[in-house]
Amino acid sequence: MQIKKLFLQNFRNYEEETFTFSEGLNILFGKNAQGKTNCAEAVFYLCTGASLRIRHDKQLVRIGAEAAKITAEAQNRYGKVTIEAVIIENKRELKVNGSKIGKNADLLGHINSVFFSPGELRLIQDGPDERRRFMNISISQTSAAYYTALLRYNKILDQRNALLKNHDVSLILDTLPVWDEQLCRYAATIVKKRAEFLEKLAPYAEKMHAFLTDGAEELKVAPDKKYSGDESEISKTLQKRFENNYEKDLRLGFTTVGPHRDDIDFFINGIDAKAYASQGQTRTAALSVKLAEVEIFKDLSGEYPVLILDDVMSELDLPRRKKLVERISGLQTILTCTHAERALYGKDAKKIRIEKGKIRPEKA
Ligand SMILES: Nc1ncnc2c1ncn2[C@@H]1O[C@H](COP(=O)(O)OP(=O)(O)OP(=O)(O)O)[C@@H](O)[C@H]1O
Ligand SMILES: [Mg+2]
Repeated sequence: MQIKKLFLQNFRNYEEETFTFSEGLNILFGKNAQGKTNCAEAVFYLCTGASLRIRHDKQLVRIGAEAAKITAEAQNRYGKVTIEAVIIENKRELKVNGSKIGKNADLLGHINSVFFSPGELRLIQDGPDERRRFMNISISQTSAAYYTALLRYNKILDQRNALLKNHDVSLILDTLPVWDEQLCRYAATIVKKRAEFLEKLAPYAEKMHAFLTDGAEELKVAPDKKYSGDESEISKTLQKRFENNYEKDLRLGFTTVGPHRDDIDFFINGIDAKAYASQGQTRTAALSVKLAEVEIFKDLSGEYPVLILDDVMSELDLPRRKKLVERISGLQTILTCTHAERALYGKDAKKIRIEKGKIRPEKA
């Protein structure tokens, strides 16, 4: 998949600008606070309908402007795709090839992207929320069933949590089994898809980690071991687990078990990475996981996703930077940094200098 052109109008600090990307490495460079991440964010938004940094779309609209518009002209293996988003206040309208789409699920899969940032490289150091978010975004891009199950699960979960805060215990105990039956169905889909995803991800991540560390370290990625069997067995296991936790859930006022509490385990050279690995080690392992995600997209959709690398080079030492550049060569990449070092990125990279929300000629 490739993005040929990106048009931004009143998006973040851009008034109006058109980017033309090459098929390989595109380097957006410039001083701090000029609009590099904003451009990367626009690409990710058109791929996933999700913003990287915010909850409210309103923040994406240039301060003082009424509406933001972003358009991408892209190519996937089925042909040309144009994706357009218009954001007014917190409302947005999305169009794919000129036709309005009703729900976000219909946007997913047209252009897949994998986003790397310093935050993403904290995947292993950070809490389980971030690891679930990683799985949710990644799996949703290639599985509409997962995305839909996740939306429904979260909706019922909110209702269940609201119910648990009620003071009428007998009402709660009468109602919970009704909620839980539905909850378990969606939960089982989520659990199963995550397990399949991690099963595919693990060998790639382990190989990438060996590559990045020149074989010095061995990474192991392990899914949550609480479940086994097919979806109906998982659903039954979950049903029992929900029942066993009624008392605890009532006491605490929220749902204490389920896929919204699951996690991924990482081991480096046999040792629990979350607890014991150094920062550099966990960042490298996270990078391995992200590079593995790229391979999974390739396997599932038949083509490589667009890579968005926001400010990640500054997080890695020189040998790892070189390895990363080597690994991504040939894949369309949009990379932001403050200095487009030729020694690192090579002469073929397309350099785009950004200053105050505008593309500027590259300085000699
Ligand atoms: N809705 C908005 N309207 C106007 N300006 C905005 C809006 N949202 C963000 N900005 C501004 O855009 C500027 C550039 O932000 P961006 O995150 O893209 O910087 P950057 O080039 O990635 O810098 P850094 O190197 O520090 O990461 C910031 O100064 C920010 O205040
Ligand atoms: Mg930035």
